[in-house]
Amino acid sequence: MLSQPSIVPRRQRIKDLILAIVLIAAGVVFFRIAGTLASNQPVVYADIVEHFKYGSIGSEPGGSLLQPIGGALPPYMVFKTLPAMCSERLPGGYASTGLIFEPGHDLPIGVSRRRRFGVEQVGFNCALCHTSTVRDSPAAPRRIVLGMPAQQLDLQAVVRFILECSLDGRVTAENIRGHFEASGQRVSLFERILLRVGLVDRLKIQTLELRNRMQPSLGDNLPDWGRGRVDTFNPYKAVQFNWPLRKLPESELIGASDYPSLWNQAPREGLQLHWDGDNDSVDERNLSAALGAGVTPVTVDHASIKRIRDWIWTLPPPEYPYPVDRDLAARGAEVYRQHCVNCHAGAGFRKGSRDAGRVGFVVPIDEIGTDPHRLDSYTEAFAANQYSLYPESPYRFTHFRKTNGYATHPLDGIWLRGPYLHNGSVPTLRDLLEAPERRPKTFYRGYDVFDQRNVGFISTVPSEGGHQFTAFDTSRPGNSNGGHLYGTTLSDAEKSALVEYLKVF
Ligand code: HEC
Ligand code: HEC
Repeated sequence: MLSQPSIVPRRQRIKDLILAIVLIAAGVVFFRIAGTLASNQPVVYADIVEHFKYGSIGSEPGGSLLQPIGGALPPYMVFKTLPAMCSERLPGGYASTGLIFEPGHDLPIGVSRRRRFGVEQVGFNCALCHTSTVRDSPAAPRRIVLGMPAQQLDLQAVVRFILECSLDGRVTAENIRGHFEASGQRVSLFERILLRVGLVDRLKIQTLELRNRMQPSLGDNLPDWGRGRVDTFNPYKAVQFNWPLRKLPESELIGASDYPSLWNQAPREGLQLHWDGDNDSVDERNLSAALGAGVTPVTVDHASIKRIRDWIWTLPPPEYPYPVDRDLAARGAEVYRQHCVNCHAGAGFRKGSRDAGRVGFVVPIDEIGTDPHRLDSYTEAFAANQYSLYPESPYRFTHFRKTNGYATHPLDGIWLRGPYLHNGSVPTLRDLLEAPERRPKTFYRGYDVFDQRNVGFISTVPSEGGHQFTAFDTSRPGNSNGGHLYGTTLSDAEKSALVEYLKVF
């Protein structure tokens, strides 16, 4: 009897202990799950160069827990396994589209990774469209050049492949998991559950929706963007603003634009840039580019974009690495001073200063005479929609304007920026100095072997190692190589001198 009172508390203590353990375990599980669901962790790179190439700007999809997928790109494990599941649709894998792979990285340059709401996601970053390679000869090694237009990349082929393959019957939860594990990777418990409960069905529904929205701007009746170009605003109209593209006139649906370079942003502040000069603020151009890459006002990573902004602020273009005839170039400097400096500024731009001449203003379309489609694809209505994107925030756009022509760009690093003009319709600098009827009518885009004679990339090679380059036809709408007649009536000697000078620009 006497021992009774002490037994009850002991039992009670054991019960309490068990209860406590159960509660702690439940708490751990709860916080694990909550932590997984709330996760928002990009792969972080301390080195700015790695950050530029592989870091996240916030374009990975997953704006909310209820929408774990549904952006430009499918989740990591799907992105990685699509080429194996639809191998005949992309025989050379992603590399055949011009995406650049480096040893030690499982994703190409321009594709970032971030865990959002428990799912490993991938997204595009700035290096996708602003990095390329150069070779001295077909046998020479490739040099990767950061900030250079991605003249080798067929982004349309990447987008088409992902949209079509995601809808392919072979893309099933079992196949994704099978191919992913066969490549030596592990599917997390949470992702396995998602695969079980209909991730793939949702992926297909969202892909179908995205494809239907984008299709009019990717249509077979329109000229391909091809390597080195993207339609700047039409996918944006469809994906970000949800505009029914079918209702737009066809002339507005053509807007394939060459990728520009990202060097020397500091002296570009205040200049009217983008091909049509629609914006004079570097920060707004950066942010709007990020939106083009798939960032949304919910997913955007401002801190990450600021790192890139600060780096490209003073990033210089690489120097011309081949022999230059200095005397000839000196004569070219004089030709440039007479015929070009008051639209394209002086060579000091390469070192970050606006030392001479005018630059960064719009030349009316009637005067410049180049292809009008890119200009027409950017409309007043589009500008109005851009203003509504970040209401009440310091990031709200205030600098976009509809213009009536194309902007005069600084020519720093111009040797690496071919093919030339906003639609990339003229393969070399020497060709640009010929009258339009003497410029090449058809040529190939995307080969990275440099043409030291004419300055640009060799444009007569249709394919290499099974990778097809883009056959560019200047007679298609959007592809006109007309206009920009400046310098076309110079003598041959003057043209050679000018091209020599532009090498050191
Ligand atoms: C999907 C391809 C793509 C991605 C990704 C991309 N850009 Fe661009 N960028 C372009 C194109 C195309 C233009 C030219 C737009 C036009 O005027 O039509 C451009 C223009 C620019 C310009 C203006 C250049 C000039 O001199 O006119 C800046 C600055 C820029 N991008 C910065 C960035 C930054 C920073 C990022 C990443 C946050 C980025 N871009 C991501 C394709 C891209
Ligand atoms: C009246 C102003 C004006 C003059 C003068 C002028 N340009 Fe241009 N230039 C432009 C404009 C505007 C564009 C953009 C046109 C387009 O892309 O449709 C351009 C584009 C270019 C481009 C293509 C840039 C790129 O990134 O693809 C090069 C190269 C160029 N000009 C070189 C020259 C040279 C060399 C001269 C002197 C012989 C010259 N320009 C004279 C206005 C001018």
